[in-house]
Amino acid sequence: MRVGVDEFGNLIGSRPSELGSALLAGSHLDTVPQGGMFDGALGVVAAIECARVLHEGGRSLRHPFVAIAFAEEEGYTFGSGTLSSRSLLGEMPRDQFSELVDRSGRTYDEYLRARAHGLPQAHVPAQVRAYIELHAEQGPHLERMAKQVASVDQIVGSQRTVVTFEGRAAHAGTTPMDRRADALLGGAEFVLAVNEIATASNGRGVGTVGELHAYPGARNVIPGKTALSVEFRSQDDTWLTSARERADGAAGKIAGRRKLGVRVTPWTGSLVQPMDSGLQQAILAAMRLAGHDAVTLSSWAGHDAGILARYVPSGMIFVPSTGGISHAPEEHTPWPAVEAGTHVLLETILRLDATDGTGGTLPLAYAAR
Ligand code: GLV
Ligand code: MN
Ligand code: MN
Repeated sequence: MRVGVDEFGNLIGSRPSELGSALLAGSHLDTVPQGGMFDGALGVVAAIECARVLHEGGRSLRHPFVAIAFAEEEGYTFGSGTLSSRSLLGEMPRDQFSELVDRSGRTYDEYLRARAHGLPQAHVPAQVRAYIELHAEQGPHLERMAKQVASVDQIVGSQRTVVTFEGRAAHAGTTPMDRRADALLGGAEFVLAVNEIATASNGRGVGTVGELHAYPGARNVIPGKTALSVEFRSQDDTWLTSARERADGAAGKIAGRRKLGVRVTPWTGSLVQPMDSGLQQAILAAMRLAGHDAVTLSSWAGHDAGILARYVPSGMIFVPSTGGISHAPEEHTPWPAVEAGTHVLLETILRLDATDGTGGTLPLAYAAR
């Protein structure tokens, strides 16, 4: 493959061919802190493995085949998920690149300018026949069903906010209990409220407070401010909206009762994103050909495929996660399932290559093209 990196840090390998529109496969290479080795990297390695098998078998495709490793999907560095695919597609305006900062104060813009990898410049092709992402399910369903592969029908929607409670920082020894405005107590109560909203949904949605900061953050100071990250996810956009409204309402009530200030800052959100039906059919046909049952699952995790699907036919292949565990070091997919999933990926690529689909155009946001 010809290998290079684009201006958003995405690693791109391509096998040229005579037709215009590319078959794109891949996933992301970044991880969450203490993450496992499958979330993301598996789909990248699988795409490269398909290229290797094609190459060693002396098999050329009619469509260009492009393997892509997105640079920043999890959102841990700057608090903004699917950042490199959204930047690539112009969904992240350039004037905001210098507003996104990592924990050390370094901006997204500075990362992109550094280009420390020494690889040549490359571009994702604009005309794309299909994007296919192989990924670990990251949940318990495939393992429970004792299946090795599934096609994904849709990717969960999400609503994220930052909720800030303001009280009064004061001395932790000298301030009597009835003279305090402890912002962290508002935060603590709110964490429970988020959990109750999601638990009461009976499986329609999930809700998490994953980050909580108390300020100034000293053992002998009553927290004067606390900021919490809130996210809800659901396969049902209506539930997402109502969960968000209920959480905002709960924050207001808690603040009122505890005489705290409160601010809800919208962060990010996305609607439920269906995968392309033609591509689902191609994946299911490839699965059947390889002797698998036609299993379809929905994804409760977010993926770059959810972004690309807005512009080009996109599909996902799931392989099981042992114990349903992901975003943790124990994350594992049994190797026979990795092989089965990669085989289905290759078979799907060959199927798509043999047919003339319409594909779509990616609105690429490269500066100098
Ligand atoms: C990405 O892994 C996400 O779903 O948060
Ligand atoms: Mn992932
Ligand atoms: Mn992840």
